[in-house]
Amino acid sequence: MHAAVVTRFGGPGVFELKELPDPVPGPGEVAIDVSHAAVGLVDAFIRQGQYKSRPGLPQPPYVPGLEVAGTVRALGEGVEGLRVGEPVVTLSATGADGGYASVTVVDAVFAVSLEGSGVDPALAAAAVPNAATAHLALTGVAHLEPGERVLVHGALGGLASAFPGVARVLGASGVVGTVRRPSLAAARASALPYDDIVVAEDLVEAVGDQRFDVAVDPVGGRLRTDTLAVMAPLGRILLVGNASGDWEHTVQTNALWGANLALLGFSVGFYLPAHPEQAAPAARAALEAIGRGLVDIRTETLPLAEAAEAHRRIESGQVGGRIVLAP
Ligand SMILES: NC(=O)c1ccc[n+]([C@@H]2O[C@H](COP(=O)([O-])OP(=O)(O)OC[C@H]3O[C@@H](n4cnc5c(N)ncnc54)[C@H](OP(=O)(O)O)[C@@H]3O)[C@@H](O)[C@H]2O)c1
Repeated sequence: MHAAVVTRFGGPGVFELKELPDPVPGPGEVAIDVSHAAVGLVDAFIRQGQYKSRPGLPQPPYVPGLEVAGTVRALGEGVEGLRVGEPVVTLSATGADGGYASVTVVDAVFAVSLEGSGVDPALAAAAVPNAATAHLALTGVAHLEPGERVLVHGALGGLASAFPGVARVLGASGVVGTVRRPSLAAARASALPYDDIVVAEDLVEAVGDQRFDVAVDPVGGRLRTDTLAVMAPLGRILLVGNASGDWEHTVQTNALWGANLALLGFSVGFYLPAHPEQAAPAARAALEAIGRGLVDIRTETLPLAEAAEAHRRIESGQVGGRIVLAP
């Protein structure tokens, strides 16, 4: 198989395209002929070595990539409910690296059938795993209730893009996004179901007297603290990432009790392997939101050989949607 290999921790230049033996599925696993592998900022953080001491994450040399679409190539012993040739997409789970390749093997519980869904495989790789993440986080962690209002930072980013549609399906009464650049704020024309998109730097003035019950924060840094000022009483701030790269920022916990707020964290990669029974319902919710046209994430497809370029672009924070690699 062809694979884009991270040969050591470092910049995007550490990628090498290699021919490797085709992986074979073990018991409970499925091999997939990959048509599209989504690129996430977390792939760049792992490649940089940001999480090098965190157990469960891959060490070089390794093939990155958690989220792929393709067709079932072979079934491991004991796998039921999937057939060879069936179109599938995978959910994100820690340890499930190996996606930037023409063939990958995953735990069958994280392979979701796309049969009859009508979802294009590039959009499936880009949207299904993140929409499943959004469903798990909004229901099981932030406990979003119908009629509540949601704020989403980095609104057009890969993970963030999945939240407005899933929040709508769950009955959110309003969803506002933030972006860094005013030119992107003009992207209200975005196909995503935001009521408004405002410039993050001006958050407090831009939202006026609107208050939010749930804020989704994959960005971090100063914006995380600014968010405290725009939350409704008993508001929940859901921390799901740190795209700002500001690893030193801290939030004053005394600000939380004074304003009746909760800070919550969620990481799908570490959650799903411990709760595999939640994969199928989360995938169904994701496909429902996508099927209703609510997670129409802009995707751009690059050849696998351009994995390094894909990482340069995602690190620059300029993607505004998702890059998917085609092996
Ligand atoms: N918790 C989970 O289960 C989970 C799952 C997937 C990803 N993540 C995490 O979520 C975060 C976002 O990942 P992603 O794949 O969605 O990334 P992405 O597609 O690059 O989106 C990140 C967004 O953050 C905004 N941003 C603000 N400041 C930034 C900065 N200094 N540099 C880059 N972007 C900045 C950008 O939007 P504007 O330029 O418009 O502001 C960008 O669109 C990462 O920390 C990742 O590890 C977590």
